[in-house]
Amino acid sequence: MNFLNLVQQRYSVRSYQPTPVEDTKLAQILEAARLAPTAANRQAFQLIVAHVKGREAELQRVYARRWFIQAPLVICACGLHDQGWVRDADGANYATVDVAIALDHLILAAASLGLGTCWVAAFNPVAARQVFGLPEGVEPIALTPLGYPADQPLPKARKPLAELVRYERW
Ligand SMILES: Cc1cc2nc3c(=O)[nH]c(=O)nc-3n(C[C@H](O)[C@H](O)[C@H](O)COP(=O)(O)O)c2cc1C
Repeated sequence: MNFLNLVQQRYSVRSYQPTPVEDTKLAQILEAARLAPTAANRQAFQLIVAHVKGREAELQRVYARRWFIQAPLVICACGLHDQGWVRDADGANYATVDVAIALDHLILAAASLGLGTCWVAAFNPVAARQVFGLPEGVEPIALTPLGYPADQPLPKARKPLAELVRYERW
């Protein structure tokens, strides 16, 4: 599958089969995240791969949608702010950007292998800290289930390029 077909096919999966994710596929998906570009190559992220079985109740505290615990795995993508590259000019910390790029690599790799994911930012961060045992300085940025889809994509709703792109200046 070429890259444009892949980005067209990826969608937010909100219904999953219970079928396990093969270890070989999980390894490839995590490798895609590992190879993501990060600011100054700081790699200021950590991925927590959690098995859902037996943890359904606590994971529902993190994000209460039923589909969140249908897949066999949930991944919590965390930022390490003390390791993130900081821009001298204004002190902006790029750890969150590092996390986003790594998770997007992971999500696209999953789609290329027939697996489904869904970015989740509307989770309860207090519950996430407890459930995943996050130490201070580690911020949960986004989560996703990882499993085989049990739904079908809807047509993509996107603004036309003319509303998203300007040339030369604002
Ligand atoms: C940063 C980010 C946060 C998101 N958070 C949620 C979320 O909390 N719950 C949810 O159901 N979808 C969430 N989504 C999925 C978006 O709703 C979805 O990507 C968008 O509607 C486009 O649909 P598509 O992914 O199927 O192309 C999030 C997506 C991104 C990129």
